[in-house]
Amino acid sequence: MSKSEEEYTQPIGLDVGTSRIVAARSADKRYRYESQLNAFLTLPYSKLADNLLQRENVFHEVHGSEIVVAGNDAERFAEVFHVETRRPMQNGILNPQEPHSLAVVRSIIGKLLGRATVEKQKVYFSVPAPVEGSETGIPYHQASISQILTELGFAPTPIAEGLAVVFGELGDANFSGIGISCGSGLCNVCLAVLSVPVISFSVPKAGDFIDNQAALVTGDLAIRLRIQKEKAFRLNGLCSDRVQNALTVYYQEMIVNLVKTLCNHISSAQKLPKLEQAIPLVLSGGTAMPHGFLDHFMTAMRANELPVKLSEVRISADPLNSTARGALMAALC
Ligand SMILES: Nc1ncnc2c1ncn2[C@@H]1O[C@H](COP(=O)(O)OP(=O)(O)OP(=O)(O)O)[C@@H](O)[C@H]1O
Ligand SMILES: [Mg+2]
Repeated sequence: MSKSEEEYTQPIGLDVGTSRIVAARSADKRYRYESQLNAFLTLPYSKLADNLLQRENVFHEVHGSEIVVAGNDAERFAEVFHVETRRPMQNGILNPQEPHSLAVVRSIIGKLLGRATVEKQKVYFSVPAPVEGSETGIPYHQASISQILTELGFAPTPIAEGLAVVFGELGDANFSGIGISCGSGLCNVCLAVLSVPVISFSVPKAGDFIDNQAALVTGDLAIRLRIQKEKAFRLNGLCSDRVQNALTVYYQEMIVNLVKTLCNHISSAQKLPKLEQAIPLVLSGGTAMPHGFLDHFMTAMRANELPVKLSEVRISADPLNSTARGALMAALC
């Protein structure tokens, strides 16, 4: 935390994402973002290693016989030590298979937020919506993040990630429309009317699904595919490159699955509000970033029937910060 953050007493928006945790603060009608990768690696403890990491200002903690390097430094050191980073979260919630999950998320949130600077400083934090038909650990996840924030002195409030996108992107439409965050573990969707969520759900095929499936068919590591995807991938059809092709195939599958689930959910909603006007749909999250994503999304939409009229479909201008900004805007309302 910087000096100015120590003096910041206003509400904070926090996006607790599967691959990144982002804090949003407001300053002079502008937003400031700070993020850390939601990842870590462990090294065997030695006093020397601990001292050296401290001297290098590397974000780490000692847990018994292990040193846990977390956040952005984890990726840097994974390359140095040739080890794989681990992730405390999976599919939008704390990973039950990962014994370090809670401790790592606690230390990353602590690093980004510090302690509350005034009593009961507000923090709105994102939580995923349920995936249809699956038992979920969302209540445990939500209670755990809430407890971390309470221990730091904050007054925490959860907000569904799709609704946060509506808050962050659809102010001009009176917070009415469809917000979709295409993240790493999930795609979170919310149809809201005048800021009230009417339909919220999530879809389990997102960025990690693309990386893992493409890795299976190319024989590469998922992390390598992820790096290539983030660096240069464009959704513009098949070519002679097998990695590009594998990413394209699973990207298309993810988009078709998202659109089908969206149309099914809205079609089968029993209490669909009577919308007098067409509503906007906005796509955010890292997975919506590649060039060509919107075209493929529109093609899939044309092949399905959405029972509400859309006034526009667009990609967020700042897809990686949209959820945190929306959580902040909800906290400021
Ligand atoms: N430029 C890019 N092109 C393609 N994919 C990207 C790009 N940048 C990030 N991603 C992908 O976006 C995903 C991360 O997005 P985001 O930060 O919105 O997710 P998250 O909020 O951490 O996850 P979730 O919301 O599912 O919990 C990862 O799968 C990452 O590989
Ligand atoms: Mg997200």
